[in-house]
Amino acid sequence: MKVAVIMGSKSDLPKMQDAIDTLNDFGVNSFVNIVSAHRTPEYMVEFAKTAKENGISVIIAGAGGAAHLPGMVASLTTLPVIGVPVSLKNLDGMDSLLSIVQMPKGVPVATVAVDNSKNAALLALRMLSISNEELSKKLAKFSEEQTNMVMEWNKDFKS
Ligand code: RP5
Repeated sequence: MKVAVIMGSKSDLPKMQDAIDTLNDFGVNSFVNIVSAHRTPEYMVEFAKTAKENGISVIIAGAGGAAHLPGMVASLTTLPVIGVPVSLKNLDGMDSLLSIVQMPKGVPVATVAVDNSKNAALLALRMLSISNEELSKKLAKFSEEQTNMVMEWNKDFKS
């Protein structure tokens, strides 16, 4: 059970770190690499075409600006691809979001919110949990803890 976390540039790493950490917290192995649709197109093709035989189950792909990586990878594999729009300094991530989310019919990319690589990891974990009861229990515990945290916050307010 392995999730690939790929990104278009090393500059995306701070925004993608949450995905790597979340997978790690849940005890799921990740393969982390820089794969650029524009700067390393041949490597991108090789990566996407061999991902499945290399034991990868889900691909998380982060990119910013003209963010073609998630869609191009999705066109080269049948594995599920989750796109993370990375915000850059000029357009607040709107460019990245639209580049990733507006895929043509037939080539799906599940797109999370701008810079929300944590949700990309949680979605990948939910996919893996379909056939992994241990992971499913961990995700249920995570949701419960999240609920408890909010209810704890509420104790600070007077009723
Ligand atoms: C995209 O271009 C990358 O995903 C990154 O978000 C953006 C800028 O890359 P650098 O110029 O910082 O390497 O392909």
